[in-house]
Amino acid sequence: MALLPILTAPDPRLKKKSKPVDQVDAEVRQLMDDMLETMYDAPGIGLAAPQVGVLKRVIVLDIDREDTKTGPLFMANPEIIEASDEDVSYEEGCLSVPEHYSDVVRPAKVTVRYLDRDGKSQDLAAEGLLATCLQHEIDHLDGVLFIDHISALKRNMILRKLLKARKEKERDEAEGKPAKAQDPEHAL
Ligand code: NI
Repeated sequence: MALLPILTAPDPRLKKKSKPVDQVDAEVRQLMDDMLETMYDAPGIGLAAPQVGVLKRVIVLDIDREDTKTGPLFMANPEIIEASDEDVSYEEGCLSVPEHYSDVVRPAKVTVRYLDRDGKSQDLAAEGLLATCLQHEIDHLDGVLFIDHISALKRNMILRKLLKARKEKERDEAEGKPAKAQDPEHAL
């Protein structure tokens, strides 16, 4: 397994539409495992392949690492096949939009069809944080970030701050200062 570098906005690769995988082969499983390790390390609760610069429809999630019953979810070609009329608002963050959070309104419940780590087709009905996280990650596969769901004014302000933060981070790295950690509850 390997830690992969996480891209941050603005980066043109985060705005691209990812391609479906033909099958879940050894290469895709390796990607899933590397993504999970990268997500845990960040730390975050969800990660999509384009966030590590791989334009494939692959996501990993683990909304509660303490809960060993559920374990991590590995999904290839995830698709929302059903969404509730009822909406819910959650304060989202993203490993690719570090240290910025915003309320995003999405359907409260979704059913997702996907290929699991063994390449088997599965349907998962989700609500609460898992439903939010699934929609957030699937958005990534279509080049959509949570900041695309908020006002242009707020989005542009965040993007400006991200550019500034990137320069500061580059300077800190050059000086050998440690990187700041994210608030894991909100890093989707
Ligand atoms: Ni994200």
